[in-house]
Amino acid sequence: MSLFRQTRLVAGLGLLLALGACQERSPTPPADADVLAAEALRPARPELAAIYERSCMACHGVRSAAPLTGHGPSWQPRLAQGMDTLLKHTREGLRGMPAMGLCPDCGEQDLRDLISFMSTPR
Ligand code: HEC
Repeated sequence: MSLFRQTRLVAGLGLLLALGACQERSPTPPADADVLAAEALRPARPELAAIYERSCMACHGVRSAAPLTGHGPSWQPRLAQGMDTLLKHTREGLRGMPAMGLCPDCGEQDLRDLISFMSTPR
């Protein structure tokens, strides 16, 4: 096999793996009704709701690459990583997810509460 063909084969396999990883992260895309429901969801505690509205909602409360608030299937594979990993990724950022979710003054408890709120299926 020529080096060119080998390179193409490796690139093709890489693409397949990347697609597979995407599907694994979001097995069921949210329906329009899920997005509508997410737009109306807010944390019960007013201070937390204010943080959510100014920091997380722009990405997690609408249809985007971010797991949708309240949509179980979007969160299930992420929850499987455990809260400590979710917290670490929120602090440090992960691909399209900005570090601290654009809430630089959020404390650990705020982030934990926000993650629980967003990842609880409704
Ligand atoms: C600018 C858009 C944006 C904002 C603002 C944002 N996120 Fe995200 N978030 C994302 C994206 C995109 C992902 C998916 C990242 C990936 O896996 O590629 C994500 C993923 C996550 C995850 C899952 C991480 C994992 O390990 O799977 C958590 C938890 C999270 N965000 C929490 C938050 C919190 C809490 C806030 C508000 C304080 C917030 N995000 C604000 C875009 C955003």
